[in-house]
Amino acid sequence: MQDADLPPPQMLCAWGLADARVSLLGSGLINRTWLVEAGGDRFVMQQLNPIFAAAVNDDIRVVTGHLRSKGLIAPELLPAEDGSYWQLHEGGIYRLMTWVAGASHERLTSVLQAQEAGALLARFHRALDDCRHEFRSARAGVHDTPRHLANLRRALAEHGGHPQYAVVRPLAEEILALAAALEPLPALPDRLVHGDPKINNILFDPVSDQALCLIDLDTLGRMPLPLELGDAFRSWCNPRGEDDQRTVFSLEFFRAAVEGYAPGVAGWITPVECQAIVPATLTIQVELAARFCADALNESYFGWDASRYPSRSAHNQLRAAGQLSAARSLLGMRGAAEEVVRRAFG
Ligand SMILES: Nc1ncnc2c1ncn2[C@@H]1O[C@H](COP(=O)(O)OP(=O)(O)O)[C@@H](O)[C@H]1O
Ligand SMILES: [Mg+2]
Repeated sequence: MQDADLPPPQMLCAWGLADARVSLLGSGLINRTWLVEAGGDRFVMQQLNPIFAAAVNDDIRVVTGHLRSKGLIAPELLPAEDGSYWQLHEGGIYRLMTWVAGASHERLTSVLQAQEAGALLARFHRALDDCRHEFRSARAGVHDTPRHLANLRRALAEHGGHPQYAVVRPLAEEILALAAALEPLPALPDRLVHGDPKINNILFDPVSDQALCLIDLDTLGRMPLPLELGDAFRSWCNPRGEDDQRTVFSLEFFRAAVEGYAPGVAGWITPVECQAIVPATLTIQVELAARFCADALNESYFGWDASRYPSRSAHNQLRAAGQLSAARSLLGMRGAAEEVVRRAFG
């Protein structure tokens, strides 16, 4: 019988790796990821989450090729023996890529890591500025905040009978009230960005803490830069992690991350983009709180950790409360955070 935690043997065969040693890798909740070891070589095999179409692999190949041509490290998709870069097996899409020797963290633990993460993201953005690739698998409206807030209102209207409704409702009302108090972001141009630059999508050198590369490239695409930065900072500047409801925003990590990012994008990032960094971080925190909160009722989108929480709803309630707490924390130090941005970008 096949072990449910391992890739199907046919997929290992497809890449000529039938005799490889395989083990589960990382703590990602989206794709299924395995470390594949064969004859001294290491690879990473993934089964894509069904939310992604196979064409995403074509986009990843173009963008990672572009990054490598500029001297950045990027995992390389490897062709199967039939020459294709992904395989379909019983409805699942599988791919194989090079393994990068680095560690991923669930939360930052030092200002050096924050600064390194910022510098890496700047190199990534600058390297992709002249990449004209038309994406085959573009995700529309990822950070369409009004849509996410409308989804939360709809979840409240439709799931009055959910066993957790009485707990989720007050949380939802607080999130919606905070959202209503935020000013809208200015109109901004699109840039080619990672799309999910959260902390565990960065690989660090385990000894020097140097940030080596961004992984998890299924979300690559174009969007306003401050939304990408807001998504990065809400994740990086959260020393208690996503699974803590008393989350605080770390001004210390924010300063280090912004100071790490700024030199690499000097002369490229515009003043309007800079001014939108703090408001966009708040927007992303509130948007993510709304998404987790809606999913505490819808129970249809976010993955969850069944080993630590009694239900998907419970895990997503906690994550919603955590993002709300982080947003309140940033609001309380907004002036100081804006001063950090002003100083770093001159
Ligand atoms: N090319 C790679 N080299 C080394 N480790 C990797 C590589 N790709 C993924 N990983 C590890 O597997 C984890 C999950 O992979 P990721 O692509 O981030 O999937 P998910 O979408 O599920 O988060 C990562 O956090 C990292 O620890
Ligand atoms: Mg990931």
